[in-house]
Parts: sequence; C-alpha cells; structure tokens
Amino acid sequence: MNPLLTLGRITLGIETSCDETAAAVYHSHNGLLSNALFSQVELHKQFGGVVPELASRSQLEKIAPIVDHALAQAHISLHDVDVIAVTHKPGLPGSLLVGVCFAKALAFARSKKLIGVNHLEGHAFSGFLDHTIPFEHLCITASGGHTSLYIIRDFGDYKTIGTTQDDAAGEAFDKIAKLLELPYPGGPVIEQLAAQVEFQDFFGYPRGTRHTLDFSFSGLKTAVLYDLVKRDAYDMRLKTLINTSDELKKQVASSLLVCIADIFEQKLALAYTRYPHIKAVSFVGGVACNKYIRQRLATWSERNGLLLYVPRPAYCTDNAAMIAFVGNYKAQQGLYADMTLDILK
Ligand code: KG4
Ligand code: ZN
Repeated sequence: MNPLLTLGRITLGIETSCDETAAAVYHSHNGLLSNALFSQVELHKQFGGVVPELASRSQLEKIAPIVDHALAQAHISLHDVDVIAVTHKPGLPGSLLVGVCFAKALAFARSKKLIGVNHLEGHAFSGFLDHTIPFEHLCITASGGHTSLYIIRDFGDYKTIGTTQDDAAGEAFDKIAKLLELPYPGGPVIEQLAAQVEFQDFFGYPRGTRHTLDFSFSGLKTAVLYDLVKRDAYDMRLKTLINTSDELKKQVASSLLVCIADIFEQKLALAYTRYPHIKAVSFVGGVACNKYIRQRLATWSERNGLLLYVPRPAYCTDNAAMIAFVGNYKAQQGLYADMTLDILK
C-alpha cells in the first residue's frame, strides 16, 4: 500500500440494495480510491423489471469478486481497511441481506469497525463525490425506488421535506416504457426517443397539485394509458398496444419528459419559497442521468441565482462510492454499528 494512505482512514463501502452489486474504497484524505460494480440489468431485462429472487441469488454470486475487485483497484488489501460501511436500508430484503451478512462476517472475522448506511442518505450526499456543495442546499433525489426532496444542512444532517406518495419518478419511466413495449430500464430509452422529436409537449399529461412538496407519479401512468386508449393505440381488454406508430411512441416519450421536468421545476420553486436561505440545489439518483431534465433544472436554478450540482452518471445510479463516502463521515462522527446491525425494508 502507498505509505501516504496509512495516514488516514480507509472505508470499504458495500451496496447490494437492489439489482447492483457494488463495492468501493474511500480514503479520508485522498477521496475515492476505487469504485467497482456489477449490474444485473441484462438478467432482469427479459422480465421488464427486477425479479427479487433472481436479484438476491446474483448478489450472492457477485459480492465476493466485486469486493476483491474494489480492493485490487485501490491497490490495498483487506488488512488495510479500517471501516466497512454497508447499505442496510431501504431495498429488497433478500438483496440487502447479502450485503449486510457479508459485511458483518468480514468485520467480525477481521476486527473491522462496521457502519450501516441508509441508501437514500447515500444518494443525497452522492453529489459530494464530484463537487463541494455549499450548505444548506436543496437536494432532489429521483431514482427507480425513491423520489424525495431534502434540505441538507451538513454531513448526515438532513430533513425530508417532500416525498412520493406512490410511485417513484424512475418507476414511472419504467412502467410507461413497459406499456409502450420498450425495454427495461425505461428512462434511458424514453430519453433517446424523446430527443428525436426535440422534447415537445404533445399531450399535456397532468402535472398534479402545485401546493405540496410531495410527489405522485402513479396517476401519470394511468393518464398515459387512457390517452393511448383514446387514440385507439391500446386495447384495454387484451392489455396490449395496437396500431402504435414509432412516431406516437416518440411523442409520448417527449410529453412525459416535459411533464416530469415541469413537476420537478414546480417542486423546486415551491421549496425555494419555503426555504429561501438555501445556497444551491443538487439533483441525484438514476433519473439525474437525464440530460433534458438536468438542463431544465440548471436553467431554473440559474434564473434563481442558484447553482445546480449533478454528479457524473456513475454516481447518479446505484453505486458503492456514495455508501463509502457516507461511511467515512459517519466514522468521523463515531456512528458505528455492532453485530446486531439488521436490514430494514
Ligand atoms: O438510482 P438508480 O440506479 O436505482 C434506484 O435506486 O432505484 O435508478 C434507476 C432508475 C430507473 O428507474 C431508470 O429508468 C432511471 O433511473 N434512469 C433514467 C435515466 N437513466 C436511468 N430515467 C430517466 N432518464 C435517464 N436517462
Ligand atoms: Zn438508489
């Protein structure tokens, strides 16, 4: 190991909350040393979404090689690790169990400190892997499992000010893509289709109420479905598309993106009136990979004299770098777990 690394704390982060098996190494002075990931997207594609039983079996196969890979990439061995930080909530129980049991076994066998990390806290602070973001700031997290607004006051000090009442934004992309018979995950495909008609609002899907910071996306899928039925493009009895041209799919994709960007913009605007002291905005989670939505939020932020921070795509989607980062500051704060650490759905 590089002798300089002995001066700080080394945290191994492990993330297995859904369909990614990930491990990363973070050094308290030098930052991220490695970030390894195995994605199960190909495994779940044929089912149009994540199959929990398959996800946990695959986690079990990949966890040891991915941890080895992260250590090798960082040019260290397990002996050099001080802290093991693992996602223990929320997520698919079977997948979470693989990471938590693995981390506990390693920590026990090799006498390492253990830390349990909330996956959502990982996303909320993932912007710091690429940027120094001023406190207090507003964070919008939009992924396949979660959509929330946070006021971030300091490392580990944050407050949820809005969250989804039903589906997450990424889930809306995935479900509507399935309706359109497009592959999983839906977000990137919908973005590609929408770009072909230059992001216009063809169908005016509902934006929901402007008066709350909470989100609701399940109505959006129903609105798209009924609109397709109205256009004789979907058969409710057979539950299948009929006579649907590629052009129509592009128009749906485009209208959907404009609608979701409008909703995010409205929520930011409302949050800013309630929390006018914020210094910046961060946008994280898988949906933050979307260039169109990012651009819309950047424009809104600029108009309001705020900077928008978005991490690179590899830190937007699920990853262990964000878990190792949170583990590092929790270690600094002395927030260690013991062998009773358990998963929480
Ligand atoms: O953060 P993430 O990897 O996993 C969860 O924590 O859920 O997010 C995955 C979600 C999926 O729903 C996927 O459709 C969405 O992020 N996503 C996108 C894009 N890339 C991924 N949504 C919109 N546009 C994209 N380019
Ligand atoms: Zn996530």
